[in-house]
Amino acid sequence: MATNPRTAGTSVEPLILERWSPRAFDGSAISDADLDTIFDAARWAPSAFNFQPWRFLYARRDSASWSRFLGLLLPFNQSWAERASVLIFALSDTLIQGPTATEPSPSHSHSFDAGAAWALLALQATRLGYHAHGMTGIDFERTRAELDIPDRFRIEAAIAIGRIADKSILPEALQARELPSDRKKITDVAFEGNFSR
Ligand SMILES: Cc1cc2nc3c(=O)[nH]c(=O)nc-3n(C[C@H](O)[C@H](O)[C@H](O)COP(=O)(O)O)c2cc1C
Repeated sequence: MATNPRTAGTSVEPLILERWSPRAFDGSAISDADLDTIFDAARWAPSAFNFQPWRFLYARRDSASWSRFLGLLLPFNQSWAERASVLIFALSDTLIQGPTATEPSPSHSHSFDAGAAWALLALQATRLGYHAHGMTGIDFERTRAELDIPDRFRIEAAIAIGRIADKSILPEALQARELPSDRKKITDVAFEGNFSR
């Protein structure tokens, strides 16, 4: 049987290891207060010029928009995300306007900044007892049209947030994958000095 490979080799913050992306959610509702706290965490991410290019469109499972949002995911993601508590589309503004600029210009870091916001959102969700699962298995074209997303905003990903359920609710093939994953070694991703292969 597979085991959880997440043991800290350093003094990394335990919350970071607790965050992972399950697919077995219990279909419970999320409170306004919890959702606000999760978006508040995202809001405190750093961004170039503090421009805060992230935007979040969301639908709670008990809302009128839920089935519309769910229908924008690819079928595989729909099959498990239908038991999440909230579905979110994370966007980023591809244009930036500095305090002295008269016109917006292309942003170098809109995705980097939105990624930081997503990471904080996911950690806050974890702290509150939820799990957040990112998805790019989305129908991007239909999402833009259906949710009235202006051209200047990039659709980065969708996010399902929910309370974890027993993996036995999943089809067998997915049960086998329902486990925190491992990572590359630090020395494979962080180089002192020049880039090294
Ligand atoms: C941007 C992004 C897109 C992803 N797309 C999908 C997806 O479409 N479907 C899915 O089941 N998981 C998706 N994932 C989940 C990743 O597979 C998962 O985060 C990765 O395997 C690491 O596992 P962990 O999050 O449990 O640590 C996505 C994650 C991210 C961050």
